[in-house]
Amino acid sequence: MMPMHAHSPDLSPERITQGLRIERVGRRVLVLPEVDSTNTYALDRLAADPDADGTVIIAEYQTAGRGRFGRAWQSPRGASLLLTMLLRETGPLRGSRTVMAASVAVAEAVEEATLLAPLIRWPNDIYLRGRKLGGILVETRAMNGNGVAVAAGIGLNCLQQRGHLPPELGETATSLEIESEQPVDRLALARAMILCLDHHFKRRNAVSDDEIAAAWHERCGDRGQRVTLSSLGQSFSGRVIDVNPSAGLLLQLDNGTRREFDLQTITRA
Ligand code: BTN
Repeated sequence: MMPMHAHSPDLSPERITQGLRIERVGRRVLVLPEVDSTNTYALDRLAADPDADGTVIIAEYQTAGRGRFGRAWQSPRGASLLLTMLLRETGPLRGSRTVMAASVAVAEAVEEATLLAPLIRWPNDIYLRGRKLGGILVETRAMNGNGVAVAAGIGLNCLQQRGHLPPELGETATSLEIESEQPVDRLALARAMILCLDHHFKRRNAVSDDEIAAAWHERCGDRGQRVTLSSLGQSFSGRVIDVNPSAGLLLQLDNGTRREFDLQTITRA
């Protein structure tokens, strides 16, 4: 197999943050050669520190990376951008807004760094040409009366060639290396990711719900698509009419009715 750092300069906090004009996300950047999971590291090791807000943790390799619904998230050493943004929130938190803003930020960052335009597959998968390029896992932890720590973990396949992608994913996954004509630059991606995350998360309501919804809609590959999902143990099929940061997902169900689903309570089949 090809070495994974073929065209990418090494990631280091200094290189990543050099000259970046950010307010919150990326105030502190850690690059770890190996960790169990960047989300676990953020929540277990950093979240209690009052100064940890805005810290970005990047790992070259995870021994216990995880995806949604407890699935494993695996990536060869140095192949992906594995990144967690840690926030300490004191005000009320709406999960769907966080997930949507993070998805938009990831799609924007990929576009900025590669000129490829990924789509968001509701609620938080990043797709390129019909295949999964990355995913986002948002986890929260209550801080004993001191608000909530939010870990938004992002896994973006960068340098993988076909043989590096887990075989069980078959043709459903892809990487920037597979899709891009240009050399893939993880450093440029990390910098763009931090800038875009900072834009969306630097201040409460700095980016309005309407703006997030508009950006999400622009990039959503699902509107008008048929989906099947399960919510609270029941299965529903229908066509996606709208997604709204406060209301969740609006489906035109096959039985003729319309129904809203909170993004936090559903799994997509
Ligand atoms: C999904 O598609 O199910 C979400 C995948 C999220 C993976 C990232 S990799 C960085 C961070 N650390 C983890 O353990 N998971 C997230």
